[in-house]
Parts: sequence; structure tokens; C-alpha cells
Amino acid sequence: MHFSTFCGLVLFSCGLVVAQSDSTANVTQAFSQAHIVPGVIPVFAPVATLGVVFSDNSTGQQLNVTPGVNLTEAQTAREPQFFLNSSNSTLLNQTFVLTIVDPDALTPQNPSLAQFRHFLSGGFRINGTTNGTLLVNVTAALSDFIPPTPPAGSDPHRYIVLVFAQPPTFEDDSRAIVNSSTPRQNFNITAFAQTAQLGSPIAGNFFFTGPGDNSTGGSASGTAGGSQPSSTAPSAGSNGAFEVTGNLLRALVPTGLLWFIL
Ligand SMILES: *[C@@H]1O[C@H](CO)[C@@H](O)[C@H](O)[C@H]1NC(C)=O
Ligand SMILES: *[C@@H]1O[C@H](CO)[C@@H](O)[C@H](O)[C@H]1NC(C)=O
Ligand SMILES: *[C@@H]1O[C@H](CO)[C@@H](O)[C@H](O)[C@H]1NC(C)=O
Ligand SMILES: *[C@@H]1O[C@H](CO)[C@@H](O)[C@H](O)[C@H]1NC(C)=O
Ligand SMILES: *[C@@H]1O[C@H](CO)[C@@H](O)[C@H](O)[C@H]1NC(C)=O
Ligand SMILES: *[C@@H]1O[C@H](CO)[C@@H](O)[C@H](O)[C@H]1NC(C)=O
Ligand SMILES: *[C@@H]1O[C@H](CO)[C@@H](O)[C@H](O)[C@H]1NC(C)=O
Ligand SMILES: *[C@@H]1O[C@H](CO)[C@@H](O)[C@H](O)[C@H]1NC(C)=O
Ligand SMILES: *[C@@H]1O[C@H](CO)[C@@H](O)[C@H](O)[C@H]1NC(C)=O
Ligand SMILES: *[C@@H]1O[C@H](CO)[C@@H](O)[C@H](O)[C@H]1NC(C)=O
Ligand SMILES: *[C@@H]1O[C@H](CO)[C@@H](O)[C@H](O)[C@H]1NC(C)=O
Ligand SMILES: *[C@@H]1O[C@H](CO)[C@@H](O)[C@H](O)[C@H]1NC(C)=O
Repeated sequence: MHFSTFCGLVLFSCGLVVAQSDSTANVTQAFSQAHIVPGVIPVFAPVATLGVVFSDNSTGQQLNVTPGVNLTEAQTAREPQFFLNSSNSTLLNQTFVLTIVDPDALTPQNPSLAQFRHFLSGGFRINGTTNGTLLVNVTAALSDFIPPTPPAGSDPHRYIVLVFAQPPTFEDDSRAIVNSSTPRQNFNITAFAQTAQLGSPIAGNFFFTGPGDNSTGGSASGTAGGSQPSSTAPSAGSNGAFEVTGNLLRALVPTGLLWFIL
């Protein structure tokens, strides 16, 4: 109780508007630290933050992905939900392409199958008129979600979630490039984005998953067993303030109204 009140006061006096721009700076920094830039995409200049929320396969507990968090296979087994938070209201009336790619298949040391395409879908719209609400797909995926299953003995892989603004011709054009018969392996999101004229990603996020419960390359006790990674795992380019912001928002205004207000 005291903690919540304290956080509320700090957040309201210090300002969530700052936290919002901090979040894009932090994910940008995290992408560089994890060599996602320039290894996977040449540039990353997000104009929105991407919330990725998994529901733990064994406990059902909601897990909010912070950039670079370590998660287990059980935590990432189900298709996540996506939330887009931006102060730019133009985004609220746009359609988006979402993807999840693994640049570390088969292993980070031998990425011979990289990138592996875990998810690719256009037709995502913000379900409502407030900032920071759920993204809902209005079309079928080009590649349905398949969960991380890095091979036994592998170091944890990076799973990169990217959002692009969807051009008007995407639904007509994209299925000739990627469809259900297109191999998942040796995908190149940068080449795809060029061919499909997606431009640079407008938001992104990422997490690590190792084989089985080995998300950390050692003991996975920090995140296993359904504990909130957000409360135990300050990560590269992320930290407690961001978590508290997310949790507080969820606790106080599940509809995301706070982003709208602030
Ligand atoms: C997810 O849960 C299902 C049903 O309980 C189980 O069969 C499956 O092995 C689980 N997958 C993971 C990765 O935990
Ligand atoms: C979103 O938030 C910004 C301020 O952060 C505000 O200017 C804009 O009107 C909001 N848009 C909607 C549709 O909520
Ligand atoms: C808002 O987003 C639109 C579309 O992405 C862009 O054209 C515009 O420049 C952005 N506005 C601001 C203030 O960033
Ligand atoms: C939203 O976009 C559609 C076209 O995609 C347009 O017809 C409509 O006027 C836009 N609405 C607003 C409020 O900008
Ligand atoms: C989308 O928003 C509507 C109205 O707020 C709500 O009834 C519906 O459940 C939402 N859809 C999803 C998938 O959350
Ligand atoms: C949205 O995606 C889900 C699977 O993630 C799929 O079952 C559903 O049919 C899609 N919605 C539309 C309108 O295609
Ligand atoms: C976890 O992964 C690391 C490599 O990242 C490996 O050295 C270690 O043996 C693995 N631990 C278990 C219990 O599989
Ligand atoms: C499906 O994608 C492949 C490329 O992977 C392409 O050669 C083929 O023409 C596409 N199929 C359709 C029906 O567009
Ligand atoms: C992916 O495609 C881009 C653009 O065509 C290219 O510059 C890059 O080298 C490719 N990456 C790999 C790993 O092939
Ligand atoms: C994730 O696990 C790696 C070891 O694979 C460790 O170095 C890193 O500190 C962990 N990150 C977090 C946020 O716990
Ligand atoms: C971003 O990172 C900086 C430095 O690590 C930290 O002070 C700040 O609170 C972070 N902001 C968010 C929103 O996580
Ligand atoms: C986005 O907004 C939703 C709803 O307000 C919140 O639950 C979530 O934590 C926010 N995510 C990010 C990445 O800021």
C-alpha cells in the first residue's frame, strides 16, 4: 500500500511523459547492446513502445516483456498479446505488420538457419481510440506464431519483436513473398521489409529464451516458476522504473486511460 502510494506520487510528480520517451530510448539502447542493431536491422528509431505480454503456459500468469528479459519455454509457449503505446495519435488509426524473428538459430555461435521466422502478420489495429491499447489482428497471419524451442545445449536465443507501419498494398502483395509454404528458416526481416516497402520498424522489443527451463544459461530460478520477470529481472536497457510504470498502469487503469490522460 505504502509502496503503491509512493510510486504513484513519484510517477505523477516526475511525469509519465518522461517515462514514455525514456522507454523508447531504453529499448533503443537495449537493441544496440544486444547487437540487434546493426546485426539484424540496420537502424532502429522507435516512435512508440511495444508491450509484449505472455501468459505462462503452466500458471497462466501474465508476463510483461521488458527489453532483454530472460524467459523460459513455458513462459513463451503461447502467442503473446501486443500493446502499442505512443503519444502520436496518428498511430491510433494505422494498421501494422508484426513479426518475431530469431537471429540465433540454430545457436548463437552457429546461426546457420537464421533468421527463423516465428511470427509474421499484417492487419494489426489498435482496438480502440485510447493510447496503449491492445493490438488486434483483422487479417490472418502470413506465418502463425510458433513458440521458441532452442535446441538442447544452446545458449539462449534472442527473439526480436518488431512493428512496422503497414502500407496499403501489403495484404495484396505480401502473400507472394511469404505464405504457408515459405520456409521459416533463413528469413531476412530487413530484406522482407525492403521488398514489402515497410520502411524501418516503428517499435520493437525482445527477450531471451534458452532450451527448456534454461533461460539464463545457468539457474533459471530468477524467472522460472511463473514469477514475474518484471519484478526480478532488471535487464539490459531496462529497469525497475519501467516495470513499476507498467505494473502501476495495469493496476490502476487496465484500459490504458492513463497514457491518454498524460
Ligand atoms: C504447455 O502446456 C501444454 C498443456 O498443459 C503441454 O502439453 C505443453 O508441453 C506445454 N508446453 C510448454 C513449452 O511448456
Ligand atoms: C494520445 O496521447 C497524446 C498525448 O500523449 C495526445 O496528444 C493524443 O490526443 C492522444 N490520442 C488519443 C486518441 O488518445
Ligand atoms: C506521427 O506519426 C505519423 C505517422 O507515422 C508521422 O507522419 C508524424 O510525423 C508523427 N508525428 C510526430 C509529431 O512525431
Ligand atoms: C482513419 O483511416 C481511414 C483510412 O484508413 C480514414 O478513412 C479515416 O478517415 C481515418 N480516421 C481518422 C480519425 O483519421
Ligand atoms: C476490442 O474492443 C471492444 C470494445 O472496447 C471489446 O468489446 C473487445 O473485447 C476488444 N477486443 C479484444 C480482442 O480485446
Ligand atoms: C487473428 O489471428 C488468430 C491467430 O493468432 C486467428 O485465429 C484469427 O483468425 C485471426 N483473425 C482474423 C480476422 O483473421
Ligand atoms: C544452460 O545453458 C548453458 C549455456 O548457455 C550451458 O552451459 C549449461 O550447461 C545449461 N544448463 C543446463 C542445466 O542445461
Ligand atoms: C508463396 O511464397 C513463395 C516464396 O516463398 C512464392 O514463390 C510463391 O509464389 C508464393 N505462393 C503464392 C500462392 O503466392
Ligand atoms: C539481409 O538483407 C539485407 C538487405 O537486403 C542485407 O543487407 C543483409 O546482408 C542480409 N542479411 C543476411 C544475414 O543475409
Ligand atoms: C539473462 O541471462 C544471462 C545469462 O545467459 C545473464 O548474463 C543476464 O544477466 C540475464 N539477464 C537478466 C535480465 O536476468
Ligand atoms: C531508462 O534507463 C535509464 C537508465 O538506465 C533509467 O534511469 C530510466 O528510468 C529508464 N526508463 C524507463 C522508462 O525504463
Ligand atoms: C502500454 O500500456 C498498457 C496499458 O496502459 C500498459 O499495461 C503497458 O504496460 C504499457 N506498455 C509499455 C511498454 O509501456
